[in-house]
Amino acid sequence: MRIGVLTAGGDAPGLNAAIRAIGEMAIRDGHEVIGIANGWAGLANDYTGTSLGANELRGVIAQGGTLLGTARYNLDDPAGGRERVLSAIDEHLDALVAIGGDGTQRISSWLAARGAPVVGVPKTLDNDLQGTDYCIGFDTAISIVAESLDRLYTTAASHHRVMVVETMGRSTGWVAAMGGLAGGADMIVIPEFPVTMNEIVDHLDKRGSAGLAFSIVVVAEGVNLSTLGGVESSELTSEGVGGVRLATRGVGQFVASKIEERGDFEVRTTVLGHLQRGGSPTAHDRIWATRVGAGAYDAVVAGKFGMIPVVRNDGVVLAPLSEVAEGRRKVPREIYDLCAVFF
Ligand code: F6P
Repeated sequence: MRIGVLTAGGDAPGLNAAIRAIGEMAIRDGHEVIGIANGWAGLANDYTGTSLGANELRGVIAQGGTLLGTARYNLDDPAGGRERVLSAIDEHLDALVAIGGDGTQRISSWLAARGAPVVGVPKTLDNDLQGTDYCIGFDTAISIVAESLDRLYTTAASHHRVMVVETMGRSTGWVAAMGGLAGGADMIVIPEFPVTMNEIVDHLDKRGSAGLAFSIVVVAEGVNLSTLGGVESSELTSEGVGGVRLATRGVGQFVASKIEERGDFEVRTTVLGHLQRGGSPTAHDRIWATRVGAGAYDAVVAGKFGMIPVVRNDGVVLAPLSEVAEGRRKVPREIYDLCAVFF
């Protein structure tokens, strides 16, 4: 079999572990593994498939990024991109494993519905794909958030300052909530549970009255500015390829300036940005990326197309791509309430 592998959308630590798992298992069984460069662009434009051998896969488990390259490529503009992908798969491959988030899996699901032999692998640093407890990259991201908060605590405490830390999280607050929980944040602001600026400042006042002269406030980049008294761009809801670059909205800086306006606190802002996506994956991401990669390979050889290996109850099971591609998994109330215990 000629098994193509691509990574699409934003990169995430652990992608190489998944590519390695698929590649090494395929080579072991005598199949050919074809690396497609730069996501869907590598199928919709000039076909970029090249054969991957043991040499290309050696040592990559520890490396961040993706050895295949990735892109946010809009297959619907110019029109006909999806049809060109269908033809490229038909012409060059016996199966395709598409590693990516909801945008990628919507395309995978569309292709599979038209009979293309496609299997997905769940990846998004934001951790909000439906139907899976695990997405490649999330564990590394929250480890980086936690370590950053540890470091910010000491300087915040020394200067008696409020530190506002903006994390990734386009539509959901997983990175902010779980990174903030692990790093001992004093307040966490996420899209799922909107708060007003008054509530944020009241909380800081309460901490001040309790003798806590410094605070760390974690804000997810996707928090809607209007609930905080700002003006939201209508582009906020646009997603994926043409989506607004959330970090440029400056929600962290907005919260910081509003806290400072009240006059009682000295405030500094840190935008963690792409530091959360860079560098070597954690052991957790290496292991689970390997497991979902292996699940995808097993699905391919079993001919279970239109499916995606997901993690549920500490095991890997197959789910239909159509289920995973739609909607978003949100931070549940119980996690937010647990975070709030430590505010
Ligand atoms: O979708 C994952 C994500 O990391 C978001 O959290 C963030 O808003 C976005 O990607 C950043 O994308 P880019 O690297 O294209 O600016």
